[in-house]
Amino acid sequence: MDEALSAQESIFLNIKDPLHRFIHGIPKAELHVHIEGTLEPKLMFDLAKRNNVALKYKTIDEVKEAYQFHNLQSFLDIYYEGANVLITEQDFFDMTLSYLQKLNEQNVLHAEIFFDPQTHTERGVSFDTVISGINKALDIGREKYKVSTKLIMCFLRHLSEESAFEILEEAKPFKNLIHAVGLDSSELGNPPSKFLNVFKAASDLGYVSVAHAGEEGPPEYIWEAIEKLRIKRIDHGVRCLEDLNLICELITRQIPLTVCPLSNIKLAVFNDMKSHNIKELMKAGLIVTVNSDDPAYFGGYVAENYLAVCEALQLSKDDIYTLAKNSFLASFLSEDEKNNYINRLDNFVNSF
Ligand code: ADE
Ligand code: ZN
Repeated sequence: MDEALSAQESIFLNIKDPLHRFIHGIPKAELHVHIEGTLEPKLMFDLAKRNNVALKYKTIDEVKEAYQFHNLQSFLDIYYEGANVLITEQDFFDMTLSYLQKLNEQNVLHAEIFFDPQTHTERGVSFDTVISGINKALDIGREKYKVSTKLIMCFLRHLSEESAFEILEEAKPFKNLIHAVGLDSSELGNPPSKFLNVFKAASDLGYVSVAHAGEEGPPEYIWEAIEKLRIKRIDHGVRCLEDLNLICELITRQIPLTVCPLSNIKLAVFNDMKSHNIKELMKAGLIVTVNSDDPAYFGGYVAENYLAVCEALQLSKDDIYTLAKNSFLASFLSEDEKNNYINRLDNFVNSF
């Protein structure tokens, strides 16, 4: 047995509470995480020092105290400011590798990871610097932690479609490293239809598409993402429950939702976890997955998200199994790869 695996196993065995042990140990995938949202305050401080970037905060505790959000925009303002410390390839490498280490500790076997190149190119950091740093860490993650990954390049929806076209062009030399395109940032006032042409162009180039929709925005944005952008997966999508026809459409087309419970509470999409609608989404027959979104800002990685919903909503072990299985089924892995991971999931559950 290699060193990484035995270290991982000892972490799981040391967890006393059976539900915690089950959630940490169950093989699972993460399909909704922004790599810039994995930048922990400690690393933010280290990078600020390394790159001589001034931060508004004097201590790590001060940073943590600033993480009080009342909606998506109040979070995004702080999140984009945090990203200013990312300058060199080494910075992107360090941030990505520490996220992969976390995946290993929580037995996340596969991750589909967003990155926001415009956040960096707008500040004069090159596309090459961003993707090379991330990709070198993903290579190590594959070797050392056996975690498989896919990259999703997001267009920032508060910027113009023209700017999205520019980044699609800049991505061309790195096409083989990017699996899909996505749409993130300020949802209200920036409907998916604003990006109709660039999603069409991305599809013609061979990219798969996903989009954030129905996080703060209305069900109509989810309709637009499905019908106009022809996405394969909806990120968040929790507001679909407001529209019965939409629920039927998502089920008919087998379009999964990447739900991010802790994010939804931190950004006041729901008042508290007991009011979260994830159980209703599952009961309605939707393909629901659990994800962390921006774990360094929202207080937890994937396992903490599973735990939070389980504790607030009394999910059963069967529910946890369904969510973990959905995470593989909803991924962009091949059928063989999905089956292989689901076999590992079944073995884990049968022997727990
Ligand atoms: N970028 C990072 N996190 C996001 C979220 N939850 N919604 C939209 N854009 C984001
Ligand atoms: Zn997100």
